[in-house]
Amino acid sequence: MPRDIAARIAELSQQLHRHIYQYHVRGEPLITDAEYDCLLQELQTLEAEHPQYRRADSPTQRVGSDLSDDFAKLRHPAPILSLANAFDEADLLAWEERNLRLLPADTKLSYILQPKLDGLSIVITYEHGSLTRAATRGNGETGDDVTANAKTIRSLPLRIPVDPSSGDPPNRLVVRGEILFHKADFLALNEEQAAQGLPAYINARNTASGSLKQKDSRETAKRKLTAYIYAIVDSDGPALPSEWETLETLRRLGFNVISDATRCNNLREARQAIAGWEARRDRLPFEIDGLALKVDDLALARELGVVGKDPRGAIAYKFPAEEATTTLLGLTIGVGRTGKLTPTAQLEPIFIGGVTVSSASLHNYDQVNALDIRLGDRVIVKRSGDVIPYVIGPVSAARDGSETPIVPPKQCPFCACPLVQPKGAVDWFCGNARCPERVARALEFFVSRGAMDIEGMGPQTINALIEANLIDDIADIFTLTAEPLLALDGFAQKKVENLLRSIDMAKRRSFAQVLTSLGIDGVGSTVAALLTDNFASLQELLDTASAVRAAEADFAQVVKPIAADNDDAEAARQVTRLQKPTTELVPQLIDAADLQQRLTRRLKPLRLSSESIAGISEALGCLIAVSRPLHTIEGLGPVLVANIVDFFSDAHNRSVLAKLLAAGVNMQAEAKALAGDGLTGKTFVLTGTMSQPRGALKSLIEAHGGKVTGSVSKRSDFVVAGDSPGRKVEKAARLGVPIIDEDALRRLMNG
Ligand code: IVH
Repeated sequence: MPRDIAARIAELSQQLHRHIYQYHVRGEPLITDAEYDCLLQELQTLEAEHPQYRRADSPTQRVGSDLSDDFAKLRHPAPILSLANAFDEADLLAWEERNLRLLPADTKLSYILQPKLDGLSIVITYEHGSLTRAATRGNGETGDDVTANAKTIRSLPLRIPVDPSSGDPPNRLVVRGEILFHKADFLALNEEQAAQGLPAYINARNTASGSLKQKDSRETAKRKLTAYIYAIVDSDGPALPSEWETLETLRRLGFNVISDATRCNNLREARQAIAGWEARRDRLPFEIDGLALKVDDLALARELGVVGKDPRGAIAYKFPAEEATTTLLGLTIGVGRTGKLTPTAQLEPIFIGGVTVSSASLHNYDQVNALDIRLGDRVIVKRSGDVIPYVIGPVSAARDGSETPIVPPKQCPFCACPLVQPKGAVDWFCGNARCPERVARALEFFVSRGAMDIEGMGPQTINALIEANLIDDIADIFTLTAEPLLALDGFAQKKVENLLRSIDMAKRRSFAQVLTSLGIDGVGSTVAALLTDNFASLQELLDTASAVRAAEADFAQVVKPIAADNDDAEAARQVTRLQKPTTELVPQLIDAADLQQRLTRRLKPLRLSSESIAGISEALGCLIAVSRPLHTIEGLGPVLVANIVDFFSDAHNRSVLAKLLAAGVNMQAEAKALAGDGLTGKTFVLTGTMSQPRGALKSLIEAHGGKVTGSVSKRSDFVVAGDSPGRKVEKAARLGVPIIDEDALRRLMNG
């Protein structure tokens, strides 16, 4: 047994030495920080239990350091300490018990709980209120001088107090905090990288570190880093009694302090609060790797002292690791109901955050390409909260040359049709609306709960029906009869009866539910309800869509001959807009008082004749007139309108819809029972803050026969203005539309 332990200690040491080298010398880590911590933790435990095997050169004997040759060194005024880790409640209880033993009998400990930010530690010195030095943690005694770089971080005050009325700052104040990327800023940075064809950054923390350690501070300034300050390292001001007051003082001086530290009267309260944090973790704007739990009373914390480099008075409660490395074994390709291709990574199974993961999303082929992920790679996989696990990127340093590039397919793996990538999209699509895989996915969606909710029709039944050639599309479901069903394996009398009954019941679902079930891109239950509020039947929708399509075609004819000069960028932009009237022109010009005049101004760089502008104006006027019913629905953006028009004007979709209608599926909005008809035929626009939510007021207006639209036009009858109304009021005044308040609206309702 002891021999095994000695061997394990040697093995762990060797692995850790290699990983330290890869990380700090090569700058190419092979495993995640959490995996490293896990190995280190195991070694620490074994060495603590069997100190006879601890070697002087063990990796546990080394204090972490981020020093680099590129920077001058700064000595910290006091050791920059670290935190010991707790991984579960038992660790916390043991920690408190040990502390209580070191303190006078019946001491009560209260705590501050705050997020443990996953960034890099920074130590900032202010002299007479001015930021004079900024240093990385380094080895805890000295750090790299990154003053010039740190000064570019906007959330770090260069002078304190930021609000001069907050009193005098201490002559000398040294604070400690964390530099990081907000999740959104890190995503934006990677989007910029992608736009320039550069590889994506994988790890936010390493990128924050790299950004702060640029030789040229102008490079740091380009990165949107954020600084949070959480501790005072040294100060010649009055000593503060508690962590809580420290945070308040820091906040008053103008530092960016995490707003939701929690004060806990005892460990029980802290343990309850921890559970809440774990649930909120994914919704925070920054990455955290756990929580910092600190004894609030600073005198007691001082009394507890320090072990090694960790103060006894504080501990890190680490969340289960969310990232781990494993091998990418293969790739499977899925095709969804919209035709979108999703490559999925097949992984060597790995335990992450409490579950075994054997497959993970690769997002899309653009991403696979940008990250240069290859088959056989070691990859970093992330699993956080309820999110589907995904591959963050490859560990390029672990390659041995046997890895093979991933080539996106040219054809749909299910129907062999050529794949398409719409302009500006990152995804590839199978464009074949009859692709068997797409149809199967669409059918599964159509019958699922939340859609048509046809009981007894799970994915297995759908597959059986497709294979037996009983259904080709969603409409075929409604013409199924008992006989061929009974001939199928596993379909007994009772089962068939039940299935046919639930299919029959589904014919009476509301029109909005039917629209939701069609799986139109962007049309969920909310948008479907907006549509049925404004279109009484399928026929009205179909008519509008074909009228819009026809008007678009006419408009395209009119603008076809127009081309821009190669080097006039503004002219080129206008030509592109002319090519996409439904998204680029109609929304902006729908209420234009004088369309021709507006177009003349807009299209000036194209130097068109006035006849030509008149022609465009006329065609656009027609397009506006026919698409008005869609564009004026508040809550429908132009892209959504375009999707809806696409869907309802597509020939294949129209034939399926006709079949649904013929089979008796409800395609009619129910006539709303009106509470009154005082507002019949009147159109209202709401603006400003009302006494109740806008949605409620809108329903009320509609219940009295009125209509609510999003923008003010000559056709609006009234603008209802609440508190601090927007620009709509000015526009109403200009167009002579009466502006009324809520009281006046109610008087109108009541006749
Ligand atoms: S307290 C003695 N509080 O976590 C004070 N640390 O291993 C020790 N960290 O290197 C630090 N958020 O960079 C503290 N709210 C927080 C923190 C925090 C992140 C980092 C810090 C330190 C590491 C502790």
